[in-house]
Amino acid sequence: MLSSPLLHVRGLSKSFRGVQALQNYQIDLAERELIGVIGPNGAGKTTLFNLLTGVVAPSHGRIVFGGRDITHASPEAICRAGIARTFQNIRLFRRLSVLDNVSLGLRMRRQPSLHQIVLRLPGYALYEHRLHQRALELLDLFHLAGYASQQADTLPYGLQRRMDIVQLVISVCHANARHLKSRPTEAPRSHSCHPQFPRVRETATRLV
Ligand SMILES: Nc1ncnc2c1ncn2[C@@H]1O[C@H](COP(=O)(O)OP(=O)(O)O)[C@@H](O)[C@H]1O
Ligand SMILES: [Mg+2]
Repeated sequence: MLSSPLLHVRGLSKSFRGVQALQNYQIDLAERELIGVIGPNGAGKTTLFNLLTGVVAPSHGRIVFGGRDITHASPEAICRAGIARTFQNIRLFRRLSVLDNVSLGLRMRRQPSLHQIVLRLPGYALYEHRLHQRALELLDLFHLAGYASQQADTLPYGLQRRMDIVQLVISVCHANARHLKSRPTEAPRSHSCHPQFPRVRETATRLV
């Protein structure tokens, strides 16, 4: 029996004051399936990704992800559900090391208090130590640990892209963790495209 698709889109349309940016788009995407979306300039590719991530609201149609209707969900809720995007230009701190880039991603989510930092209290040193360990573990899970001390913009394009994806995974995990903190009885909802995902999630959220 065929399992239901991870992503199910029907009749998705968007018009901007009469300009039909996307019309009647449909797709079924299975877990772990990879596809490319191609088309000339103005075909509606960017609009499609904006619709899927909730940045733009559809005029018509339906988006179901993991069995849940996310057509009108907020970008935050869609991120929590497990959809995140990269951009054409890779967003990295180019002059920082690979390790510092990932540490920063983790650090954005939780900071020690100002007085812990200023007074260099033990909690601060422990935080820094854990942050470093988590960042290394994440790099290891994504086979990037060997590049940890290398400056980010010296990495080949494909590996910079992979770093981008590490940051996305961190944001999905943290959006989930934040949400679950306020609703402790709810199970995590994000879906996995990779068998390692539960381990990645555990590592990325341990600091929260
Ligand atoms: N915010 C907007 N306001 C008005 N028209 C838009 C807007 N965004 C996209 N469009 C129009 O929608 C069509 C599809 O654009 P877009 O999704 O950017 O295509 P692609 O990414 O495939 O080049 C184009 O005609 C574009 O001018
Ligand atoms: Mg575009």
